[in-house]
Amino acid sequence: MNYHIVTYGCQMNLHESEKIAGILKEAGYTQPSSPEEADIIVFNTCCIRENAENHAFGNIGALKQLKRKKKDLIIAVGGCMVQEEGKAAFLKEKFPFIDILFGTHNLPELKSLIEKKRAQRKAVISVTAERADTEDGVSPVRTSYPNAWVNIMYGCNNFCSYCIVPYVRGRERSRAHGEILREVKGLIGEGYREITLLGQNVDSYRDGDGMTFPTLLDAVASLGGDFRLRFMTSHPKDFSEELVAVMKKHKKICKQLHLPVQAGSNRILKLMNRRYTREKYLGELAYLRQEIPDCEVTTDLIVAFPTETEEEFRETLSLVEEADFSSAFTFIYSPRTGTKAAAMEGRICEETAKDRITRLVELVNRKTREKSAKYVGKTIEILCEGFDEKKKLYLGRDEYGRMGYFRSNRNRVGDFVMLKITEANGISLFGEEV
Ligand code: SAH
Ligand code: SF4
Ligand code: F3S
Repeated sequence: MNYHIVTYGCQMNLHESEKIAGILKEAGYTQPSSPEEADIIVFNTCCIRENAENHAFGNIGALKQLKRKKKDLIIAVGGCMVQEEGKAAFLKEKFPFIDILFGTHNLPELKSLIEKKRAQRKAVISVTAERADTEDGVSPVRTSYPNAWVNIMYGCNNFCSYCIVPYVRGRERSRAHGEILREVKGLIGEGYREITLLGQNVDSYRDGDGMTFPTLLDAVASLGGDFRLRFMTSHPKDFSEELVAVMKKHKKICKQLHLPVQAGSNRILKLMNRRYTREKYLGELAYLRQEIPDCEVTTDLIVAFPTETEEEFRETLSLVEEADFSSAFTFIYSPRTGTKAAAMEGRICEETAKDRITRLVELVNRKTREKSAKYVGKTIEILCEGFDEKKKLYLGRDEYGRMGYFRSNRNRVGDFVMLKITEANGISLFGEEV
């Protein structure tokens, strides 16, 4: 039997889709396929911004015809959107042909939900409010070789005022470090070359033995084998000299930090409940670069948060000028029902929001281009991750997160490759193997 999984959202969800594939395999669905040939289609949804939800609505809706033609097809919808208050009932109403709805806390039950659905006509819905355990007993079908994602913690307690994640992912829960080390060792043994430790907020990692994130990172980086180590996401309020010291100590840890700043104005940061100031943030970058001069930093930015003035928006622009990011993800603020910011007055109109995002994207792109241009003529080491069918080139990232493309007449996926850069285009670099 065939399966098809559609994934939206962050790395956490990408990895969870690998776990879903693992569960489907146990349930008898062994082959990934196109939606038309699938016996089960699973949507792993995201609700971080309104457009993420709209994408999912469109694609789920489009399956109505297929479901009519193919009565035995099972359509399952899970992930963050389903976990939103009242959303499961809404989805069932809007798309009566959905067979299974499961929340973020109900992923390990998926196999039994499928079995239940096979035995009854009625739809099966399972959305519980919280989950305590941190081991799901699922063997993921990994699709990202040579990279492997490893969860270190789940949930978030930060309640940034705009963000829905704490509501749909629940309270912070850390996995025991012994379990994490065991999983990473296994992956290295299987030949994975890059391990990414995942958490909504890795700095909050704390297990039952009192292990913290820097000590965990130190322990993982101390494992033997030829691999690279990444982690995400860090929060500026938890930035520590201890973390920087561990990054500096280990060659295996990539010299790249994703440190979302969100905004450049202290008043907006306060309204966002981020618990740091612009000055503190820039101070952290200065310290990081003093200790690890070649470290690259990427970030997330939100424009048009409620009441943001033109002046305040310009503080985001000036922060981008100062901070020297290698790249940034930029978003227009999207109100999420149930969050504090959604109830704030002073919504910014669409026209202003679009104007601000356009100006910000232009600036970010210009900075990225300037940085990339400096690479021309230099040699970088990338870990080859795949083959770009359109460009007909192999691609991979260097430890700083830059994408490098090159030509090869044999499969290089999983190899560390030295590239002499001949051309730069945006964040992408093109080179020749040396
Ligand atoms: N835990 C991570 C990822 C959160 S989601 C972190 O704290 O960084 C990724 C990014 O989406 C956030 O950093 C933020 O920039 C953006 N985001 C979250 N909620 C949003 C909203 N309501 N509107 C617009 N962007 C949002
Ligand atoms: Fe959302 Fe803030 Fe938690 Fe990140 S730290 S997931 S932005 S609440
Ligand atoms: Fe989206 Fe959930 Fe990730 S809301 S960004 S998939 S944690």
